[in-house]
Amino acid sequence: MSTNHPSFGTLDEDRLIIFDTTLRDGEQSPGFSMNLTEKLRMAEALTDLGVDVIEAGFPIASPGDFESVRSIAQTIRGPVICGLARTGREDILRAAEAVKPAERRRIHVFLSTSPLHMKHKLRMEPDAVLELAASSVALARQFADDVEWSAEDGSRTEPDFLCRCVEAAIKAGATTINIPDTVGYAVPEDMARIFTMLRERVPGADEVILSTHNHNDLGLAVANTLAAVAAGVRQIECTINGIGERAGNASLEEVAMAVRTRPDAIGRRTGIRTENILRTSKLLATITGFDVQPNKAIVGRNAFAHESGIHQDGVLKHAGTYEIMTPESVGWTKSSLVMGKHSGRAAFRDKLRALGYGEVGDNQLNDAFRRFKDVADRKKVVYDEDIVALVDDEVMRDHERIRFVSLDVRAGSKAPPRAELELEVDGAVQAAEATGDGPVDATFNALRQIFQHDATLTLYSVGAVTDGTDAQARVTVRLEENGKMVDGQGADTDTIVASARAYVHALNKLLVKRARTEPEALSA
Ligand code: KIV
Ligand code: ZN
Repeated sequence: MSTNHPSFGTLDEDRLIIFDTTLRDGEQSPGFSMNLTEKLRMAEALTDLGVDVIEAGFPIASPGDFESVRSIAQTIRGPVICGLARTGREDILRAAEAVKPAERRRIHVFLSTSPLHMKHKLRMEPDAVLELAASSVALARQFADDVEWSAEDGSRTEPDFLCRCVEAAIKAGATTINIPDTVGYAVPEDMARIFTMLRERVPGADEVILSTHNHNDLGLAVANTLAAVAAGVRQIECTINGIGERAGNASLEEVAMAVRTRPDAIGRRTGIRTENILRTSKLLATITGFDVQPNKAIVGRNAFAHESGIHQDGVLKHAGTYEIMTPESVGWTKSSLVMGKHSGRAAFRDKLRALGYGEVGDNQLNDAFRRFKDVADRKKVVYDEDIVALVDDEVMRDHERIRFVSLDVRAGSKAPPRAELELEVDGAVQAAEATGDGPVDATFNALRQIFQHDATLTLYSVGAVTDGTDAQARVTVRLEENGKMVDGQGADTDTIVASARAYVHALNKLLVKRARTEPEALSA
């Protein structure tokens, strides 16, 4: 059986649609917010990865969200670009306007259907909810042929009522029906039962795309997703590194690799170019400042590392003894000596292309090249990871109001640490000198003198980009101000310089956040 869909045409039965919501559900979680440039970079990476749908944001939430969805719709070609909306007319019009420039666009309308949500959140009677489901889908269909309808808290919805809502949404013109496990409460059997029921009982259920959206509160998001697929679901909603509300969403890389590694058990395929997985995961980690845990499946540092002698011996004799997929298939490559201090700009540009950066603008190339030369002067060997760290660091800094210029630090056991810092603020270079309880503290004190602010530093963490004492440090700084939280990153062979860069990055993000109007209370 194949399905005819307004965005995808005729879809083979075994082809799954990967709907990525990193930029919406993922970005919505505390500490993961991204600015416009970062969202565009992620959207490009998701396109290279081969996702079918990018949920680019929630346009009504703020002018910044609207702008991001619209820019992605204007720029990105390939995936369907989707904007989320509640059922209100304003929500839907705003989403429609934001996705309008897309080559292929989708409006995603959601409405709670569980007894708990209807009573306490919506304060509406079931019949009114049913009517609203139908009328909001019908309104969205005036602006897009491709409309998704989600039953928020669907997994805790009373079965008969869920069937009636889904039927109403299909009749009103929904082309995708998504049943989320909004609170991560379901077990795989629940998801399988729900979709089997919908397919058996709802007229037209087999003519639309059924979709699953699972949160990971019990660590079951991927298992629930695969159970839904076994019950006939064609679209999977997921995020890179599994980011998302609370414990996150089903992780794209885990789902995609399960599908690829176990065709015998799952019998489906995706359009994901799996060799780009690691690159995309690292880009997200760099942008948000949240590294995945070392033992995270597929993209964690230890995911392919064999520590025990027995395993190492086995893998050397035959990789299949302990490896169910190759590291290369998801983008892990051996660290290679890439370039030296004599390498020129053209070779550097070629390297960036090989690392998946596409065309980097001249200004960014010049800045990144200058920093590469600097690193190459200080570091014996420059690895791919070093180049990725410094280019990501540079690209993130595009359009920033505050820029790092220079830092001179005195540290050690003889005298109080002292920092002399220069920053460029709105184009003018300013300098300050300060002492502190350590070189990092002195640097941050100098920074606060140059750019006064009330934000509190709530997290400071340092990691190494590669091995060795000459490795670049990657620093994350978290600032909080009036309930707003931002993370900044910086990379450099000098940990204190990386710290200053990270603080500056966080501060710039805070300025962007201040400029955004406060998002309305967002559910889901
Ligand atoms: O978790 C949820 O219910 C959602 C919906 C908006 C799809 O994110
Ligand atoms: Zn969600």
